[in-house]
Amino acid sequence: MLLRKKLIAGNWKMNKTSADAVSLVKEIVAAVGKVHDVEVVVCPPFTCLESVARMLEGSALKLGAQNMHPEPGGAYTGEVSAAMLRALFASYVILGHSERRTYFKETDAFINQKVLAALKSQLKPILCVGETLQERESGATLKVVQTQVEQDLDGVGKDLATNVVIAYEPVWAIGTGRVATTEQAQEVHAFIRSLLTKLFGETLAQKVRILYGGSMKPANAPELLAQKDIDGGLIGGASLESRSFLELINAAAAVR
Ligand code: PGA
Repeated sequence: MLLRKKLIAGNWKMNKTSADAVSLVKEIVAAVGKVHDVEVVVCPPFTCLESVARMLEGSALKLGAQNMHPEPGGAYTGEVSAAMLRALFASYVILGHSERRTYFKETDAFINQKVLAALKSQLKPILCVGETLQERESGATLKVVQTQVEQDLDGVGKDLATNVVIAYEPVWAIGTGRVATTEQAQEVHAFIRSLLTKLFGETLAQKVRILYGGSMKPANAPELLAQKDIDGGLIGGASLESRSFLELINAAAAVR
């Protein structure tokens, strides 16, 4: 048996109205609603969570959100809490995406609060980490990723470690069509696994899924997904259309 079930997650970002979301997810459920050898997660915008949750009922697909606030409630205009997401049957939440780090100035300390709050509410964080082009070119990739992983996971107990999913997303590869080479990706994934080993011990670190994200497409997925430490993908652009998303799920299912 595989130690880590492959996971394919669609990050729809700020795309799709509720009606668009329902028709996309209908197509996905019809094609792979009963697939169990790959875990499939869709992460629509907040406004579509409820309608998508209804479509996922009775299927094996899981629901994820794209962000949340660490506080359980209160005067935080425009924000949503972990409990609100749980109430809509979300199982996952993307945290620390580079777009949130860049455009909304999210710090590692803030992302850490969100990770802890998500885990406390039985939401599984998909924690995004990754270097910018400038950081890669200056040779700082591993250091940047190390700081993010260590600070964002600070205080996460061993009992909850396997509920965490990490997504390595080189910022220069997101939405650019420029994908990391399999060697570049595997190197960072193996490094993240070594950091997890230091934090949680070998046995638990071997069970944590590490996804690749950044221009993953049906054409480049098989090679990436065949790497030892690449356990799936966080997919932006190619998750907005059922055909390419389904091809990615099939690519993950084909890896043995
Ligand atoms: P992309 O986005 O697949 O469009 O590059 C990935 C992501 O930002 O999660």
